[in-house]
Amino acid sequence: MTVCRLRVSPTSAAVEQNSVVLLAARSGGDSLQLLAEEQFSAVGTDLKSVGFTAAKDELVRLPRAHGAMVAVVGIGNDQSVDALRDAIGSAVRQLAGTDEVTVAVPVESSDELAALLEGAALGSYSYTGLRSATLEQAKAPVASVTVRTDASDAEVVRSRAFERASAVALTKDLVNAPPSQLYPAALADAAMDACANLPIDITVWDEAALNDDGFGGIAGVGRGSERPPRLVKLSYNPNTATSHLALVGKGITFDTGGISLKPPVSMVGMKYDMAGAASVLAVVVAAARMKLPVRLTAWMCIAENMPSGSAIKPNDVLRIRGGRTVEVLNTDAEGRLVMADGIAAASEEHPDAIIDVATLTGAAVVALGNRYAAVMGEDALVERVRSAASAAGELFWPMPLPGELRAVINSEVADIANAAPGNSAGGMLLAGVFLREFVGDIESDDKQGGRIPWAHLDIAGPAQLKGSPYAFVGKGATGVAVRTLLSLAEDFSHR
Ligand code: BES
Ligand code: MN
Ligand code: ZN
Repeated sequence: MTVCRLRVSPTSAAVEQNSVVLLAARSGGDSLQLLAEEQFSAVGTDLKSVGFTAAKDELVRLPRAHGAMVAVVGIGNDQSVDALRDAIGSAVRQLAGTDEVTVAVPVESSDELAALLEGAALGSYSYTGLRSATLEQAKAPVASVTVRTDASDAEVVRSRAFERASAVALTKDLVNAPPSQLYPAALADAAMDACANLPIDITVWDEAALNDDGFGGIAGVGRGSERPPRLVKLSYNPNTATSHLALVGKGITFDTGGISLKPPVSMVGMKYDMAGAASVLAVVVAAARMKLPVRLTAWMCIAENMPSGSAIKPNDVLRIRGGRTVEVLNTDAEGRLVMADGIAAASEEHPDAIIDVATLTGAAVVALGNRYAAVMGEDALVERVRSAASAAGELFWPMPLPGELRAVINSEVADIANAAPGNSAGGMLLAGVFLREFVGDIESDDKQGGRIPWAHLDIAGPAQLKGSPYAFVGKGATGVAVRTLLSLAEDFSHR
C-alpha cells in the first residue's frame, strides 16, 4: 500500500544475489536495441529466441547461471523519457511477487534517470490490504528497487522521485479505500495524519462551523448524510516562497447522486469522487517534504452525497461562501456546489493562481475517454498546467469555456443554477463555466485587477483505471494530476 524502497548504487557495485536484474529494449525496424550495462549485453542474443519484440508492456524473464534472473521490458519504438518511465513502471508492476529488483539500464540524462526512478516507484504500488492473506502473499508488490547509476546528482533525483511517487501512493490509498471506511471526518483525519510533523497549518471546519461561516455548498451537499461534511484547509508557507498557489479539491467520499439518485451502474466507482481532495492533500504534503520554496494552500471540500429526509432537493437554494445563491436543479451536480465554496474561500486570500481538481462530470469521460484529463480556464495558466503535465508525462487536454453557456444555467429564483436539466450539450464545459463564477478578483479593493488566474482540471476519466493495467498504472485509483501539480508547484517555485 506504499512505495517500494528506492535506492541508487554505482555501476561498480556488485548486484545483490537475490535481486532480479531489470533491463529494457527498444524496438525499431527489424532489430532490437538492448539497453543494458555492458556486463549484461549477452542477454541480447537470447531475446530473439524467446520471441521478444520489445513492445510496450512486454516483459520476459530469463533465468541465468547460478539461479540469477534477468528480466527485460519493452519500450516500444519510442525515444521519449515518458516511454522509459512507462516501461520501468510496467516491469516493476508486473514483477510483483519479486522482493528486490535492480535496474541496470544506462541513461544519458537526469531526466532519464528520474524517469527510471519514478517509474519504478510508481509501478511498485498495489492496494492489497483488503485481500485475504494468501492472495496478498502470492503477489506482494516489489519491496525494493535499486537503480544503478554513476550520475553525480543521483541522490537528489532519487529523493525527488520517491516523494512524487509517495504522493501518488498516498492519493491512491485514500481513493481506493471503501466509502464507509473513508467518510468525511475520516478523510479530514487522514489529512491531519499525513501532515503530522510537517510545517503545514491545518484548519478543519465541521458541520456547525461550515454553517456559521457561510459554506452553504458543502453544508448543503453534506446535509443528507449521517456522516457530516468537512472543509479542510492546509497551508504550507515557507519563508522562501515568492508565489502563492491555491489548490481546491473535490472530496465527495461517496456520490449516490442524492435525491437525484444515480442508477446502480453509474453509482459503482463513486468512491473515487474524492480523488481531487486526496490529490491536493498529497501535493501539499510532498511539497512540504521536498521543502519547495512556494506557498501552497489546499482546500479539501468534503461531503458524502446521500439521499435522505434531510437531503437537499431539486429547487432548493444554497448560499455559497461570499453570498451568491445557487438553485439546485440536480442534486447529482454536487461537485460544483462544494467546489464553489472552496474556490470562493481560496479567492479570499488572493493567491497568484487557483487550480481546482475534481472528478466533476461524466461528460468529461464522454469527451476525452479514460486516459486524458481536461484542463480549462485562463489561457496562460492552462498553458502552464499543460507544460507541467508534459514534464510529468501526464495527459491533459485543453477545453474551452464558452461564454454563451452561462445563460444556460440562469435560475428563475437564484443567482445561478447548478445544472440545466434536459441539456446535454457541453456538460463538462458547463460545469467549468459554473465554477468560473466563483473565482475572485486579484486584489480585494482594485476593480481594475481582473480575475485571479484560475484553471479547472476535470479528472473524471483518468482518476480510476477500470480496464487492463498498463505502464505503471494498475487497477483502481491512479493518482492522476498529483505529479503534474507537483511539477507546477516547482514551476511556481522559480518565480
Ligand atoms: N461524480 C460525478 C461525475 C462523474 C461521473 C465522475 C462519472 C466519474 C465518472 C458528478 O458528481 C456527477 O454526478 N455529475 C453529473 C452532472 C449532471 C447531473 C449535470 C454527471 O456528469 O452526470
Ligand atoms: Mn454527482
Ligand atoms: Zn460527484
